[in-house]
Amino acid sequence: MTSGVNRGPTCSARQRREPHRGTRGAGEITEQSHTLALLDDGAWAAFDNACTHEECPLSEGTLTDNQVECYCHGAVFNMRTGEALVGPAVASIETYPVREEGGEIQVELPG
Ligand code: FES
Repeated sequence: MTSGVNRGPTCSARQRREPHRGTRGAGEITEQSHTLALLDDGAWAAFDNACTHEECPLSEGTLTDNQVECYCHGAVFNMRTGEALVGPAVASIETYPVREEGGEIQVELPG
């Protein structure tokens, strides 16, 4: 159910032009400005694709448990909260609410 979810603009995994998906560690990930990943408990996480260190794409990183490791210099982020767990990145990445409706994955983006 989606009640309580802030209704802003959304992007849909099904509507993406090139929903390039590949398995990365524990989940699936797409290569967009926002990254969508399937967590180990079956929930989806959406977050900015650019690492806060030097903007390498996190979609190229490695997923383990609920964390993504940047392939450039090894920063690790919590995909649920966006928190930077391991440097060299210090700043968190933005995360976005995700919901499933009618078999479609929808990401709530800032308005
Ligand atoms: S760009 Fe991600 S750790 Fe450096």
